[in-house]
Amino acid sequence: MSGQAGGLPYVRIGFLRFLGIDFGWENQPSGVAALDWAGGTLHLAALDRLRLPGDVLRWVEAEATADTGIGIDAPIVIPNASGMRIADRLAHSLYGKYHAGAYPASRARTFWKRTTRFSAALGKLGFGHGDEWAPKSSGRFQIEVHPHAASVQLFLLDRIVKYKRGRVADRAAELNRLRGLILERLPLLVPKLELTELPEIPHAGRGLKAVEDQLDALLAAYIAAHWWYWGRERNEVLGNSRLGYIIVPHRQRAKTIVLDEPSAGADPIKQFEEWYALASVAGIAEPGAVALATVSSEGQPSARMVIVREADSRGFVFYTNYRSLKARELAANPRASLVFYWPELERQVRVTGEVGKTPRAETERYFRTRPRGAQLSAWASWQSSVIPGRDVLERRIEKLESRYAGQDIPAPPGWGGYRLRPDTIEFWQGRANRLHDRLRYSRKASGRWIVERLAP
Ligand SMILES: Cc1cc2nc3c(=O)[nH]c(=O)nc-3n(C[C@H](O)[C@H](O)[C@H](O)COP(=O)(O)O)c2cc1C
Repeated sequence: MSGQAGGLPYVRIGFLRFLGIDFGWENQPSGVAALDWAGGTLHLAALDRLRLPGDVLRWVEAEATADTGIGIDAPIVIPNASGMRIADRLAHSLYGKYHAGAYPASRARTFWKRTTRFSAALGKLGFGHGDEWAPKSSGRFQIEVHPHAASVQLFLLDRIVKYKRGRVADRAAELNRLRGLILERLPLLVPKLELTELPEIPHAGRGLKAVEDQLDALLAAYIAAHWWYWGRERNEVLGNSRLGYIIVPHRQRAKTIVLDEPSAGADPIKQFEEWYALASVAGIAEPGAVALATVSSEGQPSARMVIVREADSRGFVFYTNYRSLKARELAANPRASLVFYWPELERQVRVTGEVGKTPRAETERYFRTRPRGAQLSAWASWQSSVIPGRDVLERRIEKLESRYAGQDIPAPPGWGGYRLRPDTIEFWQGRANRLHDRLRYSRKASGRWIVERLAP
């Protein structure tokens, strides 16, 4: 196989592979995944689920090359007769706060023979323990990994994605979130995983478990690649090969992400949608929150937060009161600016442009999606006018509740949307040593966008 990756032609000769195994500790099947390293990028080569340890060993024999690293999600070294391994204790103290503590492993547990025998069989195939591995060297290694802990580190989560326990519908939703994180995030990291497709998340319990095992295996393979690439520079080794060990990537700094010049004809709205999609899955509480700056007719600027509810090629939409200060300023001067800030990703997006009211039908459509309490507040609050006390609002809400009891609440005439049509959109990506990336798109009269790099 040959092809193009990162602009470099690549040919797979004696290529490097990373295998991930979500090993079934008791009698469960194992998820398996293979990643190839080619042209400076990882590519997904296989994703499967196998029933028995023997099947997994045969799969490794068939898939491994001379240079292959294996990440295994299972305790592969268990010297202690009882209690917990040092590695598990360390995992608890470091990652317990993210709910990613390790399952304690000792010889008192029934699984210990199955997992350590599997590791010993890999040893016979030339896969020695890789806890002392020199980065980017050749050969074969196996390491123990912990996909849960790795996911909080790689995806900058404040809590693991909980797809292992609970109701099927909740598990499916959580697993879908993990799938989104893998698709969005691993292509941005170093080493980069080129990835555009993954199995869809099924809604039945058994199918769900199968995809879960495969996604865990994919993470295990990625951790092996991350270990091969960075070694101790960007990974934590909890324990050692005598006492048992787990390798966990360091918490990723968004600074490891770069913002490259796009190819000609690039569309800033598409770029925004990609960034917004990532912000939505990165654990940011309100990714649509923006500072909106307007300027009065006297030239006095004023900024406040609003929430962008919609963004597409027509512009950025927010909803507010049409008698508020911002509304009065926009009536006098329709030019405004928006700033999104996503600190977890070290990203900022700045937008300037002209603002106009959204069509009434669009406002009404959006208003119907708001919770009833928020619909009543839109009627009750004469935003930005001085009121004598909070009780005025509460009395108004009571009256409105009885007026609209058992009825739909219409959108108030003095309330609605604004759409900011962008003239410029600047993307800012934090980088090391404050040498940040900034790309500014400007719309030409023809409607075409040009893009320029700005000094940080
Ligand atoms: C995170 C956040 C989101 C907000 N979202 C909105 C919004 O979508 N619409 C709105 O009218 N006010 C929103 N507000 C309140 C505004 O910041 C502001 O207080 C209000 O709109 C009055 O602003 P004005 O007097 O400049 O018109 C939000 C405030 C915060 C802190």
